[in-house]
Amino acid sequence: MKGTNFANFGITFKGCGSFTPSQELTNEKISNIVDTSNEWIETRTGISNRKIAAINENVSYMGFKSALEAINMAEWPPESIDLIILATSTPNDLFGSAPTIQAKLGAINALAFDLTAACSGFLFALVTASQYLRTGIYKRAIVIGSDQLSSYVDWEDRRSCILFGDGAGAFAIEISNDQDHLYGFNLKTDGRRGNFLNLSNKNEEGNIIDDIKYRKGEFSNISMNGQEVYKFAVREVPLVISELLNTTNFNSSDIDWFVLHQANQRILDAVGDRLKINSEKILSNLNKYGNTSAATIPIVFDEFVRNKKIKKNDLILTSGFGAGLSWGSALFRWG
Ligand code: ACO
Repeated sequence: MKGTNFANFGITFKGCGSFTPSQELTNEKISNIVDTSNEWIETRTGISNRKIAAINENVSYMGFKSALEAINMAEWPPESIDLIILATSTPNDLFGSAPTIQAKLGAINALAFDLTAACSGFLFALVTASQYLRTGIYKRAIVIGSDQLSSYVDWEDRRSCILFGDGAGAFAIEISNDQDHLYGFNLKTDGRRGNFLNLSNKNEEGNIIDDIKYRKGEFSNISMNGQEVYKFAVREVPLVISELLNTTNFNSSDIDWFVLHQANQRILDAVGDRLKINSEKILSNLNKYGNTSAATIPIVFDEFVRNKKIKKNDLILTSGFGAGLSWGSALFRWG
């Protein structure tokens, strides 16, 4: 037979890591910039603090630091990595920030590229990487979520500047001949509602020569309809989780931990209420970091692996949601 013979391998989860910058922007400090208060922010969002990347801590740097931790946990030599996917909406190089991470890691044999799907980016990247592994094309992949939204936040807009922070997290995943720990996924996009949340080009016109015009490559600040995004998340996330549980024949009571995108504690609580999940099973650390976009899922996951709450063989249901609009869920077993 001519052509590539695609196999069907299993996926296993071997390592995780995270990085958050050291600069802290507390609610008290934000209250000195815009008309808000610690009490308002904590009650409406659950956020107390967020980390802001310093000038030497860009998306590649944070992604590299988190990937290094994941590789060390997996005990992989860097040259054994075949694939690096960086989920980011805030690359330090629009041509791609993943190659810089590949070089810093010394992962000389890895294909490396960026993928953009806002706060769903890590989940979409995880599923994308898993497809390369399933077919046996690649054996080892690093999936990274790294974002620096502080560069695009309007620091004079109290409705949005309270929400976001910077950081990165990573997973190391590998193929297996005899185990498959990625039980399923369910990903969605609805571009018709894309105007609820944007980080778009300013659309400012420049002039090259004579009558030849061009659009300048400068971006606006994040614009967000907070209430619509809130309603979308509370309606769609329980549905996308329920659908996945149905198709994979698991019950929500089978799940050890729900690792949801960290946008707002009220969203986590509302999703938990709708699915009748014990709130202790819904991991949260957004009080410390705010919404770090593509990085929230691996950051919170890594924290709870390292503090030994998440144990080997625990069943994890993860769900991301955000701009696009984009959302989805995946079900996997750790370790
Ligand atoms: N401090 C004090 N008052 C504020 C603040 C603030 N920081 N922000 C808004 N207010 C005021 C408003 O002006 C309004 O006052 P008014 O009634 O006099 O007009 C009042 O508080 C209520 O405003 P709402 O917008 O109704 O507040 P809400 O309870 O919806 O909370 C919030 C706002 C926190 C933004 C919420 O809607 C939310 O979390 N939405 C989801 C946002 C989100 O998750 N975005 C990221 C998605 S992921 C991604 O892809 C990047």
